[in-house]
Amino acid sequence: MSTNLLKGKKGIIFGALNEHSIAWKVAERAYEEGAEFILTNAPVAIRMGELDELAQKTNSDVIPADATSIEDLEKLFDAATKKFGKIDFILHSIGMSLNVRKGIPYTENNYEYYMKGMDISAISFHKVMKVAMQKDVMNDWGSILALSYIAAQRVFPNYNDMSNAKALLESIARNFGYHFGIDKKVRVNTISQSPTATTAGSGVKGFDAFINYAEDMSPLGNASALACADYCISLFSDLTKYVTMQNLFHDGGFSNVGVSQKVMDKFM
Ligand SMILES: NC(=O)c1ccc[n+]([C@@H]2O[C@H](COP(=O)([O-])OP(=O)(O)OC[C@H]3O[C@@H](n4cnc5c(N)ncnc54)[C@H](O)[C@@H]3O)[C@@H](O)[C@H]2O)c1
Repeated sequence: MSTNLLKGKKGIIFGALNEHSIAWKVAERAYEEGAEFILTNAPVAIRMGELDELAQKTNSDVIPADATSIEDLEKLFDAATKKFGKIDFILHSIGMSLNVRKGIPYTENNYEYYMKGMDISAISFHKVMKVAMQKDVMNDWGSILALSYIAAQRVFPNYNDMSNAKALLESIARNFGYHFGIDKKVRVNTISQSPTATTAGSGVKGFDAFINYAEDMSPLGNASALACADYCISLFSDLTKYVTMQNLFHDGGFSNVGVSQKVMDKFM
């Protein structure tokens, strides 16, 4: 259902890899709601070719950018300015841990991989906002979002060093949100999403058990990628202008449940 919530708004969407990606669903929903945007991803992800299909469907350009490279981000924002003038929204939907990928346990983390994971999954959010602020690309009352997970607050052992990356990501949203609010009335938030079957999500060891447990713990069940996209649209819209510096749980109630009856029943 489209209600033109984003009509006239322009943006940049980072992180659509394939049709399972949360960013892919956000792009589809943003297009339905009347937004225009640039799609971007790391050059290696773009070479996989699936993003072209989304670009055609949503009438958008694809511009490669490694989100850890200031040079790439500067080129990306210059291209966005050339195409749109100023923009209204940015989605940072990026995550990767080499320790997770290589199956290295948290207590034995390789620090080169650890730093790389922090840079890609968290510090890149700071870099995106720094370049956006320096180049003055955001319209007043714009909205910037990144995606997080509750492992930032609670221990989920297999989430490994991504837990630390998400804690840093949420802290960057709060701190940059203060400065961007004062500077431009731009709001900055993170959405803490339910476990979702995507390429990044499924990389976590024991993901099936993880997602089933969350499903049974959440009164509303796990939120889907599409439901997450709907929430992102509301946060890009003018209906949420005074929400900033928050980590917003979008998890079917998981974060406030101690134990559910469904999980209790498994131990009776
Ligand atoms: N899937 C889940 O269970 C879940 C739950 C909560 C939060 N999240 C978060 O949602 C976000 C999107 O992940 P997803 O689940 O849609 O998986 P995904 O694998 O589809 O998306 C991750 C994206 O990060 C991109 N990326 C990696 N390195 C990059 C770099 N250097 N520069 C630019 N882009 C880079 C990848 O190419 C990919 O498009 C991530 O931040 C993830 O941690 C996912």
